[in-house]
Amino acid sequence: MHFRRRSKLLTLIAQVLSRRMSTGWSAGRLKILAIGWGVNRLTLMSSKTLVTGAAGFIGSHVCRHLLAAGHRIVALDDLSGGFQDQVPSGAEFVVGSVTDTKLINRLFAEHKFEYVFHLAAYAAEGLSHFIKHFNYTNNLLGSVNLINAAVNHEVKCFVFTSSIAVYGRNQLPMTEAATPQPEDPYGIAKYAVELDLKEAHEMFGLNYVIFRPHNVYGENQNIGDRYRNVIGIFMNQIMQNQPMTVFGDGKQTRAFSHIDDVAPIIAASITRPAAYNQIFNVGADKPYSVLELATVIAKAMGVTPNIKHLEARNEVVDAYSSHEKVQSVFGDLIKNVSLEDGINRMAAWAKRQGPRRSQPFSGIEVMKKLPPSWAADLKA
Ligand SMILES: NC(=O)c1ccc[n+]([C@@H]2O[C@H](COP(=O)([O-])OP(=O)(O)OC[C@H]3O[C@@H](n4cnc5c(N)ncnc54)[C@H](O)[C@@H]3O)[C@@H](O)[C@H]2O)c1
Repeated sequence: MHFRRRSKLLTLIAQVLSRRMSTGWSAGRLKILAIGWGVNRLTLMSSKTLVTGAAGFIGSHVCRHLLAAGHRIVALDDLSGGFQDQVPSGAEFVVGSVTDTKLINRLFAEHKFEYVFHLAAYAAEGLSHFIKHFNYTNNLLGSVNLINAAVNHEVKCFVFTSSIAVYGRNQLPMTEAATPQPEDPYGIAKYAVELDLKEAHEMFGLNYVIFRPHNVYGENQNIGDRYRNVIGIFMNQIMQNQPMTVFGDGKQTRAFSHIDDVAPIIAASITRPAAYNQIFNVGADKPYSVLELATVIAKAMGVTPNIKHLEARNEVVDAYSSHEKVQSVFGDLIKNVSLEDGINRMAAWAKRQGPRRSQPFSGIEVMKKLPPSWAADLKA
């Protein structure tokens, strides 16, 4: 639209708003705001944003929020754990891996991304002990490809989803000031990427925002992955008339976090200068035991709880983190979705989807100490 026509239109909108809203703001002030909003939106519309892992759970929601804010999105995913029909329409979808250096360099050269949201990863923390090579290639080296390209193409901000897995055990509540002591290859890879982003900022001026989410659940989660996402696993088991399988006594605690308390914050981070070059825990405050969780899920799915205990595995017993820092920068976006409400919403979605077939991971590299139930899957 030509500038004069656009300016007339904005004046008109400002006059209507000024009449409708009894704010006492002048039409002139509202016009300046409207022009600012229009310019921001136009700037976003002329630049592009890369979202990796966009066919996955958190990535698909982040994409949706970014599209609503006016971003032009290139959505990259290798579909190893995501589903193409979850990529929101309006995003340009590319099937491919972050480990493919040539593809990554070509995408950056072609699209000149201003922002990168890197969510692609295989996040099976418990399994990562047994798939070290895959874990470091996918989650660490794949991230390095993106960081190199972001530096070379002068990306304005690189947003990365790390994890509270970086903390390890006995650091409760986990606060961003604590020195990470990750105990599994997944957490080690995430922490290495965090350190590399810090280095890339100091050396090359690349801005970053790092989030450490935990136990996120909700609509679009892959309920067919038997190695992660306990809520999805329980719902999938219930829909197949199987008992919910619990490692050990089920007294381990986690603060389960609904996606609506996570994705909007990640998407908004690039618009908050106070978030730049900072690390944030993100998610719910209140921890529940896995047994308590099973009760809530059974109720939402309309069945009586049926639990089968499996041999305990090597995992952190209690994990909950402090959210004071995220509250200080993103407090306006935190909804505090309750466990019952969030689980009810996800259960309604899961019932509409139906059960999902669950495949054993085919590339196990270390069989030693593999939990017996996982080893049995491979023999079946
Ligand atoms: N869900 C959680 O509770 C949680 C907690 C902490 C951190 N995170 C992090 O958030 C991010 C998103 O997790 P999610 O729960 O949405 O998982 P998800 O598996 O649903 O999404 C990850 C997506 O990445 C894709 N992917 C994996 N490897 C890829 C590769 N090499 N190239 C391109 N795409 C690839 C998968 O196909 C999948 O669609 C991950 O980085 C994860 O480590 C998740």
